[in-house]
Amino acid sequence: MAATAKGDTAKRETATGETATIILEGKSYELPVVRGTEGEKAVDISGLRKASGFVTLDRGYENTGSCRSAITFIDGERGILRYRGYPIEDLAEHSTFTEVAYLLLYGELPTAGQLEEFSTFLNESSLIHEDMLHFFVGFPRGSHPMGILATTVASLSTFYPIPDQLDGKAERQILANLISQVRTIAAISYKKSIGEPIVYPSYRLRYVPNFLTMMFSSPVKDYRIDEDIVRAIDLFFILHADHEQNCSTSTVRMTGSSLANVYAVISAGISALWGPRHGGANQAVITMLQQILAEGGDGTEFIRRAKDRNTTDRLMGFGHRVYKSYDPRASILKRHCHKLLNRPGMTDPLFDIAQRLEEIALKDDYFLSRNLYPNVDFYSGLILRAAGIPYDMFTVLFAIGRTPGWLAHWREMYHGEDFRIARPRQIYTGPGARAWVERSKRG
Ligand code: CMC
Repeated sequence: MAATAKGDTAKRETATGETATIILEGKSYELPVVRGTEGEKAVDISGLRKASGFVTLDRGYENTGSCRSAITFIDGERGILRYRGYPIEDLAEHSTFTEVAYLLLYGELPTAGQLEEFSTFLNESSLIHEDMLHFFVGFPRGSHPMGILATTVASLSTFYPIPDQLDGKAERQILANLISQVRTIAAISYKKSIGEPIVYPSYRLRYVPNFLTMMFSSPVKDYRIDEDIVRAIDLFFILHADHEQNCSTSTVRMTGSSLANVYAVISAGISALWGPRHGGANQAVITMLQQILAEGGDGTEFIRRAKDRNTTDRLMGFGHRVYKSYDPRASILKRHCHKLLNRPGMTDPLFDIAQRLEEIALKDDYFLSRNLYPNVDFYSGLILRAAGIPYDMFTVLFAIGRTPGWLAHWREMYHGEDFRIARPRQIYTGPGARAWVERSKRG
């Protein structure tokens, strides 16, 4: 199996010789300028503190490049997303999730033989250790599956210890374990939550049908594979597979930079993804649409609240740190919603509300002036509902889709030439040094 390829490594792109001059307290400093392959430019400030005593301050890392990466390119102004140079639209149209996972990990689209070998390897790695099944019994009833997923993925480190010398073979096994077993764990946690016996993965089935069968078949009911649903879930996974340095991927890189065990690293990524401002937004969008349906309005009242700074409400599934135009993944998902919900008996009133909400918001100066457009989560929950995925599992499906991306970033960092522990600075704003006070004299 190919482990390295042309697009595989993040190279230093500093050899331009360009510099930027910064003047601080009357003294000037020359800082190297770094350019990426798509014309992005950065000032390398890594030597600034040593030279001048200054650090930079950037709330939420809005303007900070944390690494060089050759995996995913986003142009948020023009709504462009590419994995390893391939436009997301082409991958969504022509690829499968397994193929995209290979592309992200190893840098090139696989040949037919490589893809076959990779798929088989994933299937062979999909069983979790039988003793892990005890864990699922111990979680309280009603536990959120993201909590179960994060915990269980971290526990893989105890069942599959990582050798001190991580060679190519051991690394490939870990990557396959995670991509495959995240899917198995997700399906088991669902089965446990509804009190049904677990269904083991099958070596005969491809990645997505395997997942759907583990989720929905039971000893008393076969799951009939519906190719439209398989396609919808495959598309969902492809669109979620990577998104450069987002919150969970940065968490993966940060945790991984301490050389922590890679299972724990992916568990940290899952935890970061859970929040409603990140992957949890796909659940929050459905809650919002259901609330609007229950209120009987067209969403105008919800939009009024989302614009009101005195409330914490936001129009969920709208806005993005990087996209300042329509998220290309949202366009693809919206088109696919039309396709899926046009099938006989497949209408969803929430889809109508979502489209009306989008229409109202995109005529409203509040959203236009702030460049707030639908993001990937606006229509993704509707696709999952149409595919019969239970609401609590939405963010778990995001996690399954994002796992190859997290692993590609972990791998790129781990093998990268400028890999250092991630350790930001701060501007301290607390009290100055003070004398310790006896307990009896405090207050
Ligand atoms: N509804 C109402 N106002 C919003 C929204 C929204 N969805 N998003 C941003 N704003 C306002 C925000 O209040 C601020 O207004 P002002 O300039 O008056 O203070 C302005 O727009 C800029 O917003 P920001 O919070 O500074 O932007 P950010 O880059 O820090 O946050 C975001 C990005 C995605 C967290 C945010 O847009 C948001 O909370 N959206 C809703 C949650 C959501 O859909 N999350 C999924 C993100 S995409 C997939 C993923 O990452 O998993």
